[in-house]
Amino acid sequence: MELSERKSSMADQVWEPISNLFPPHPAVDPNVGAKTNLSFIPRVQLAEASKADFGVRPMVAQHNLHESDMFSDAALIDLLDRFPRKNLYALTMGTDPTRAEENRLALNEGVSGADLLRAVKKGRFWLNITRVDRADGGYRQLIDELYAQLAAQIPGFAPDFSQGSLIISSPHALVYYHADAPASVLWHIRGRKRVWVYPALDERYMTREVLEDIHAGVRHEYLSYEKSYDDGAIVYELEPGQWTAWAQNAPHRVTNLDSVNVSLSTEHFTAQSRWRARVYTANRFLRVRFGLRNLSAREQGAGAIAKTVIHRLAAKVGLDPAQVKRHIPTLRVDADAPGGVVPLGEPCVASKVGN
Ligand SMILES: [Fe+2]
Repeated sequence: MELSERKSSMADQVWEPISNLFPPHPAVDPNVGAKTNLSFIPRVQLAEASKADFGVRPMVAQHNLHESDMFSDAALIDLLDRFPRKNLYALTMGTDPTRAEENRLALNEGVSGADLLRAVKKGRFWLNITRVDRADGGYRQLIDELYAQLAAQIPGFAPDFSQGSLIISSPHALVYYHADAPASVLWHIRGRKRVWVYPALDERYMTREVLEDIHAGVRHEYLSYEKSYDDGAIVYELEPGQWTAWAQNAPHRVTNLDSVNVSLSTEHFTAQSRWRARVYTANRFLRVRFGLRNLSAREQGAGAIAKTVIHRLAAKVGLDPAQVKRHIPTLRVDADAPGGVVPLGEPCVASKVGN
């Protein structure tokens, strides 16, 4: 497909932002380019000793995405210019990792890809290019290839769906302590960052009720965090060419070191991870609707099936209406402002797309 065709086909796409909601197994997006042959061959390397750790405990391994032109400044600017802005989020933050409430959404509509990249290099925020695999056939193909190689190397790993978001973030930017509902892999491509990973499904780090809410999509993933949690964390300093994974739902946080960072965050779904989501979502429904607390979190067996059937039937008749939390924008990106963002309402001085 020609670039111009791809540009126009992406313009009108609408989809939900990536969230803690488990998406249904989607049909193929007709807007994604059918076959985009990658200009390089992605390689996933995983030491024999790490294979048993995948999805069970934190681990680090290697890849070669940092050698690809897909993540050069020019390619990122082209992607940003083509990407539907309603699905691109710019989020600033404070400096205290205990104050997640300082996370603020900045509008980016009308700011060129070049200016977005310039702003992220000089400012302190991150760009979340959500579901990049739906907007660009090359990313879809890349993620498929990465998971095919993971599945080929890890005994018993059989994802039935994957998706990804590209994260471009400023020097010293941070991601607050949080837990994601889906299982994920972080493919680090440019810059250096420090990642703290905390024990999964451990009530000292996140209560079960909070995780139920995250699976149900009724709250943001950010969690209350105390410095003392770090005593139980495993810490990595990621460099380009490394990837990391941990157990599904393990809380984690990230701080960039002194460079712009580019990472591909992928999420994958398996029969087991879908059962996790169903059981936690059903438990939340039964807790909120009927006051039933401390229900079993077992993901197999008659109890798990019964709860999920009850929840599904209740949702069908409208007893569990969907609620999704969203950030409210208070800033907008301005590449000419010292921090790369300004409060909404201030006159914009950066150049615009098409100017
Ligand atoms: Fe995360």
